[in-house]
Amino acid sequence: MARLGGQQSPSPTDPRENRLRDVVGECKSCRMSADGVFDDHIARTYDEDSAEMFAPEVLGPTVHFLAELADGRRALEFAIGTGRVALPLSARGVDVAGIELSRAMAAEMMAKPGAAGIPVTIGDMATTRAEGTFGLVYLVYNTITNLLTQDEQVACFCNAAAHLDVGGHFVIEVFVPALRRLPPGESLIAFDVSNGHVGVDEYDITNQRLTSHHYWTANGRADTLDSPHRYAWPAEYDLMARIVGLTLRERWSDWQRTPFTADSTSHVSVWEKTSA
Ligand SMILES: C[S@@+](CC[C@H](N)C(=O)[O-])C[C@H]1O[C@@H](n2cnc3c(N)ncnc32)[C@H](O)[C@@H]1O
Repeated sequence: MARLGGQQSPSPTDPRENRLRDVVGECKSCRMSADGVFDDHIARTYDEDSAEMFAPEVLGPTVHFLAELADGRRALEFAIGTGRVALPLSARGVDVAGIELSRAMAAEMMAKPGAAGIPVTIGDMATTRAEGTFGLVYLVYNTITNLLTQDEQVACFCNAAAHLDVGGHFVIEVFVPALRRLPPGESLIAFDVSNGHVGVDEYDITNQRLTSHHYWTANGRADTLDSPHRYAWPAEYDLMARIVGLTLRERWSDWQRTPFTADSTSHVSVWEKTSA
């Protein structure tokens, strides 16, 4: 699973803001965030560059898992992006809302059929509140790692818990750091070498960070992106959950509920809010 993202510092308001306000509604957070790494250019090519994540064999089990967990209750996607998961989940009858930092990504989603019924609040998922409460908050495709400090990641768990009803669930899908594949003295691991894309992770072990270097050559287009991430072991996420009053209920290797083992390269983890 490729990783994309990481935040940049805020930039001044640009002329797109009015148009995007029209598209996604007035920003409900206290501060207007910049688009981060997911600017207009990345947003336009996101679906094509992440095509394997849109494949029915990937999306089908994801949506099925989340719809079952929502169990008739409202769902909130942190970092909703171009609606890869939210749109099919909504089409299954789940009442979905989203929070998204990048206006460019949200605008891409809003241009798609079925998006009108999905309210999106522009802002940082670590601090921004969406209206109402939810039975399910989910954060997929490694996006917890786009928050680059432990404090921000804890704040994100805290924000998830604040949106949940008692009995509600917080779900994340994220990679397991591939440190076992790193020989002593090495820092680079290729995570994808396929037709049209090469992805190499550069680990900074001291700071628990990595940079994903992407090189795309598909459809006569050459493109690169360096996206920064903060990685963590599942146990650290469990501690973040405990700090905010969430209890681990399930951990799987994938959305098909394949058991999580020492060889798992990613995990889908589910925590429950057990008390107010
Ligand atoms: C890899 S994409 C995932 C998008 C979507 N969830 C999906 O599965 O296709 C990461 C998304 O996270 C958003 N993002 C990154 N940092 C964020 C933050 N702090 N708050 C809200 N959204 C954020 C990006 O703008 C981008 O849309």
